Amino acid sequence: MSSREYPSVWERFERNVEGGGTMKFVVEDISEAMWSTAVEFMLGNYIKEDVWWSTAGTARDPEAVQEYRVLLTSIIKQKMSVACFLAEGDGFGQTLVGVNMCIPQKKGYFVDHNPPKTKAGLLSLRMFAEAMKVPVIYDKYGVGEYLMGTGLSVAPEYRRLGIATKLLMARIKLAKSLGIRATGGIFTSAAAQQVAEKAGMECLYSIPYIKFGKRCNIQFNDNTENLKIFGKKTE
Ligand SMILES: CC(C)(COP(=O)(O)OP(=O)(O)OC[C@H]1O[C@@H](n2cnc3c(N)ncnc32)[C@H](O)[C@@H]1OP(=O)(O)O)[C@@H](O)C(=O)NCCC(=O)NCCS
Repeated sequence: MSSREYPSVWERFERNVEGGGTMKFVVEDISEAMWSTAVEFMLGNYIKEDVWWSTAGTARDPEAVQEYRVLLTSIIKQKMSVACFLAEGDGFGQTLVGVNMCIPQKKGYFVDHNPPKTKAGLLSLRMFAEAMKVPVIYDKYGVGEYLMGTGLSVAPEYRRLGIATKLLMARIKLAKSLGIRATGGIFTSAAAQQVAEKAGMECLYSIPYIKFGKRCNIQFNDNTENLKIFGKKTE
């Protein structure tokens, strides 16, 4: 893995807003000062909305939330996650509007994190273990490692402005700067799957949730039909 400048700014962009005017955004690495803010951001809407975490019931169990807080903290400390902020502060510090958590994932290597104890934690681990049996990213790109997304979330009031797309595009650049030859992962919702396509990733695997649920003995109740794995070569 190559050394790189941290934290880096990946992109600045503007969006016109209804009623005139523009909003300015910046996509950058999550600096240490923002680690805890970003972790709490993921413990907000994301765990209530995302297909996996809502199916597991994480948000309803404070102990499961705490387990996930510990996991997210260990992920963010690896300095491979990106965030989008409002570039013009409101005078009270940076306003966080989107996060993409990432970690390097190696072939034949599962997780070295403490196993969860809560029902929700165990359910989410079971889903992850099932999806990780699919080796498409390694096979398609001939790599032994890729930068895997472990959570993508944009604040509801900033959605449909292309922020998630910019986060994924930044992650592709980040992986390249780390010397990691591919990036990708599981895209759980139909919206996120469209974002992945928009960011130039390709769908490498698709399975109906009904079938996937039977494999890991979990009932998914969501409008999204298929679980999909997307990937992209970074070179
Ligand atoms: C999925 C999510 C991250 C998308 O964030 P976003 O910043 O609004 O996405 P973008 O603006 O980059 O969307 C890019 C494209 O994806 C598609 N898309 C995004 N959200 C959509 C939605 N809710 N419904 C339909 N299409 C959607 C559109 O094609 C969109 O382009 P367009 O706005 O020009 O039509 C956000 O809705 C979210 O946080 N959802 C809850 C958590 C979640 O599902 N996370 C994904 C886990 S893998």
